Amino acid sequence: MHIRYSSTYGSTKAYAQQLAERLGTEALDCTHPIEGDGPVIVLGPVHGPKMPALQYVERHHLHKRTLAVVAVGMTDPAIAAEKDQMRHHLPEHVARFYVPGRLFYSELSHKHLNIMRSVVALLKAKPLKSPAEKALIAGFGKDIDHTDKAALEPIVRWATNA
Ligand SMILES: Cc1cc2nc3c(=O)[nH]c(=O)nc-3n(C[C@H](O)[C@H](O)[C@H](O)COP(=O)(O)O)c2cc1C
Repeated sequence: MHIRYSSTYGSTKAYAQQLAERLGTEALDCTHPIEGDGPVIVLGPVHGPKMPALQYVERHHLHKRTLAVVAVGMTDPAIAAEKDQMRHHLPEHVARFYVPGRLFYSELSHKHLNIMRSVVALLKAKPLKSPAEKALIAGFGKDIDHTDKAALEPIVRWATNA
């Protein structure tokens, strides 16, 4: 089992390390290619339409492997799973998981803070807001941690059967 992660603020890294511990392997960051056979799990945060985990899968041509991709984000995981934004980027056999993340405004880079400020301003001007959009507006400026070890259970089950 190979585990790779991309993480800007640490929450995805923490999930990757917990997963590695559960599966008796190690989690390496995305500067490491995959060497050898076996199933692969790639984890990364959601940054709007950008998902570093998908970029890693592309770069290393992992589409044909036994593969799971894990997206860590602030959108409620049930809503994220329904939307399933990775669906169109991966072949059907690839397992896709959405787990809850952490967003601490107090630690964001200027660039990310400005992005979030613009997103929230745009959403505020929108007449009809989804529950996820309302939550994003309400959370602006706060430190919010939705990470949950239990969210890894389905991934552990997938890995055990892979
Ligand atoms: C610039 C930026 C954009 C983000 N966009 C989204 C998003 O579109 N959807 C989402 O669910 N979470 C979004 N998030 C939340 C992150 O995915 C979440 O904070 C994640 O836990 C960060 O992972 P990390 O701690 O490993 O960097 C965004 C965060 C930042 C900083």
